[in-house]
Amino acid sequence: MKRLLFFLTLLIVCGGCSKYKSPEPVALRCEYRYNPIGIDVTTPRLTWEMSDTVRGACQTAYQIMVATTPELLEKERPNIWNSGKVRSAQSVLVPYGGPALESGKRYYWTVRVWNEDNVKTDYSQPAFWEMGKLSRGDWQAQWIGLRDTISDMTVRFPSCRSLSYYKRFTVPADKKVQSARAYMTALGGYTFDMNGERVNREFFSPGWTNYAKRIQYVTYDISDRIQNGENIISGMLGNLWTYGFKKNFDNEMTLRMFGQVEITYTDGSKQVIATDTSWKMAPSAITFNTFYDGETYDARIDMTDYDNDIKWVNARYLPNFNVELDAQNDEPVKAHEELKPVEINKLPNGDYVLNIGQNIAGVYRLKVKGTAGQMITLRFAEVLHEDGSVAQENLRYAKATDNYICKGTGELEEYVPTFTFHGYQYVQISGLKEAPTAETFTAIATYSDMEFLGEFECSNNLINKFYQNTKWGHKGNFISVATDCPQRDERLGWLGDAQVFMPTANYNARTGGFLTKWTRDMRDSQTPEGYVTDIAPPMDWVSVAAPAWGDAVTLIPWELYRSTGDKGILEQNYNLMKGWVDFMIHESKDNLYIFESRKRPGDYGYGDWVPVDMSPSRPLSQIYFHVSTEILSKAADILGKRDDAAYYKALLPKIAEMFHKTYFEEEAQNYVGHTQCANVLPYWFGLVPDEWKEKTLQNIIDNVVAKNYHPTTGFYATAYLLPILSETGHHDMAWKLASQRTYPSWLYMVEHGATTIWELWNSDQEPPESMNSRNHYAYGTVVAWYYGYLAGIRPIEKTPGYKKFTIDPMPADGLQYVKATVPSEYGLIKSAWTHDGKQYTFDMTIPANTTANVSVPVTEKSQVSESGKVLIDNGKRKSGNKYVKPLKIENGRAYFEVAAGEYQFTINN
Ligand code: BGC
Repeated sequence: MKRLLFFLTLLIVCGGCSKYKSPEPVALRCEYRYNPIGIDVTTPRLTWEMSDTVRGACQTAYQIMVATTPELLEKERPNIWNSGKVRSAQSVLVPYGGPALESGKRYYWTVRVWNEDNVKTDYSQPAFWEMGKLSRGDWQAQWIGLRDTISDMTVRFPSCRSLSYYKRFTVPADKKVQSARAYMTALGGYTFDMNGERVNREFFSPGWTNYAKRIQYVTYDISDRIQNGENIISGMLGNLWTYGFKKNFDNEMTLRMFGQVEITYTDGSKQVIATDTSWKMAPSAITFNTFYDGETYDARIDMTDYDNDIKWVNARYLPNFNVELDAQNDEPVKAHEELKPVEINKLPNGDYVLNIGQNIAGVYRLKVKGTAGQMITLRFAEVLHEDGSVAQENLRYAKATDNYICKGTGELEEYVPTFTFHGYQYVQISGLKEAPTAETFTAIATYSDMEFLGEFECSNNLINKFYQNTKWGHKGNFISVATDCPQRDERLGWLGDAQVFMPTANYNARTGGFLTKWTRDMRDSQTPEGYVTDIAPPMDWVSVAAPAWGDAVTLIPWELYRSTGDKGILEQNYNLMKGWVDFMIHESKDNLYIFESRKRPGDYGYGDWVPVDMSPSRPLSQIYFHVSTEILSKAADILGKRDDAAYYKALLPKIAEMFHKTYFEEEAQNYVGHTQCANVLPYWFGLVPDEWKEKTLQNIIDNVVAKNYHPTTGFYATAYLLPILSETGHHDMAWKLASQRTYPSWLYMVEHGATTIWELWNSDQEPPESMNSRNHYAYGTVVAWYYGYLAGIRPIEKTPGYKKFTIDPMPADGLQYVKATVPSEYGLIKSAWTHDGKQYTFDMTIPANTTANVSVPVTEKSQVSESGKVLIDNGKRKSGNKYVKPLKIENGRAYFEVAAGEYQFTINN
């Protein structure tokens, strides 16, 4: 009705003029999330997308209104903040500019924008964010547990028993709930039910942080879960990341929780039920749980016998436990894809082995009918032995075994593990009395709930499979922190693996919330000396980070900045980056930094990890010293820290010079090691003096040819090998490598059964008990080349976040089509091309409020048209139009500046 009225008014006012308002902004996000509740960012940043699809759509001004109710927004009477009309093109991460925000309050907001013709849109549908707890005074809760001393053996690790808890409270009959919230946390983790129904649908809350410093809490809207009369809060506590073979935290800590339920009644009164010693606790039905080893659930144990005073005892205060409490601002871990077994085999010993067809990280739903006490054991693995049983050798100390002990009701029983997950494709089930069916077991992938909006497809199915494998690797390793692998006795936040994968991750998904949180874990791991460790959150056995690992603290914020334009991430992490670089400066002599392990003298770092051709690891110190110093100097510049910017910038030529002097072998005209890596890393990161660039490139090419077009690189050089070749006129060689099928190559993995990315180029050949994971994402970095070169979508550093970006698709011989979608904060970017043997067609979508530098391949004879209009004829530029401006023809490509919108370029040669 409102719309109809609006158009009627428009008709009257305009008298039928053609100009009408463009559609209102959509996809409103606050701190990277849709309608987040319980955040503690005091100046939240707001993002919206213009939904206008007309060519040239861009924002010239915006107006934001913030109010305590949506009705006030509807009436255009915002009682919190009205930005007024702000002449600005910024639509990404615009800081809230109103008065100080209050704990626990919900803020509704809306935005309208003025387009390129200064025509304003309607206001958007309202969105909201809700504040969490901003000060310690907002909490009445206390940390509670069963025991605080290590002498108690009933709940102390390593018994690994989970605890149950409950608390009864009454809501008077005459009260009506206006709103209710729960703020919950635990060490390690919790489940939370209200009146017998699960509230937290996410997994592994409150997520992994450096527990010695910080624990997150999570906010739940439970307004419709409270009833008049008696209510029961209940749940379980489990170990999650607090216990395991790799010592994450003080293993002597007992499980503990902290939380409060707050109810506001319609009469304005409030009731708070906070954790204290009136809460009851007891060992739970999960009789064993660790991430690595698995979970045992005894369904016979009834945890609803709340009046059993022998079982349930009062919780105790754990007074000497004081850590920072922060809101969980990132996306929680959630259940995503469900997969059914594609194969079920019976082993001679009566066990069944189920193949879900895909290596994943996650849980599952088991549905069985059993007798009371019947134990069903599930053992998880990525691969099988020759006899068809699960091969767990590569999980090392991780037992990856769950037990479900049936209640025996005669009904179908259902079980989903709570405090464990596994990295697996196969599960071996013993203890079943009947053969499993497809209904018995459903695999459930769990990972941090970021938006996976990136897509890539081409006419080569092996490449498509590799792409999908990389996405699965990404999902399985982004579980609260980015990990090396999700299955063996590791699953740790190894920084090196993550930094090199981050450009790929940012093409695949919106990682802003996740990385904002994880970089805080990195800050929490920085030592007073300034160094960080290889892993965040840290382990007690790690020391100064190795080159390429520690440098994640500069590279990861920088990658997020490049793909979203988020200056905040640079600001938040500036001291982290600076501390790390200053540490390297302090450790260097005459501008030469050589990392040497403090724990293992003579160890110069992990180097270009697990390559085919070993490269000396020592040069990586200097290369990454340069990388981090360069990023720091750029960050300083962006943040207006002129002195720092100048100081660190001035170091760069000195570091580069020292690198060349130390590691270049004049006689061989090659960098020490003479491998692909030895030349790729200094070339890509700009440490090679001008006069040696050509030769260094030639060294790379010669090596690739000598290796018969195979990559022989490790985790790091692999990421840059193809981009270097494509950028220097050797795209055909890059494609030859990318489509290579014999060992070592990406597609070799695919053709040998990989469904994720292997840790080693030859994981199928290495002994199973060695370091040999089937789900390490590092070799998946070639996917950034799929998006960035085959489809050609790349951010431009000077206009970060895709405000202005590049679409330089590079067709390859043997490919008939490519299509890719990349998420930007402005909306989806698309680039697709087809080649029918004669004509190339390039389709692209440039989101509203962005522009692109487009280029397409041409010959001297090419005719290039866009949507039927000839822009280049016989190799000569013609005049363009408002939206597509031909710029130049250079090195076989025609360049255009293109406004927002959808375009189709056709090229006839
Ligand atoms: C991990 C790697 C990690 C490495 C450090 C391994 O055990 O799985 O991916 O980066 O250790 O060398």
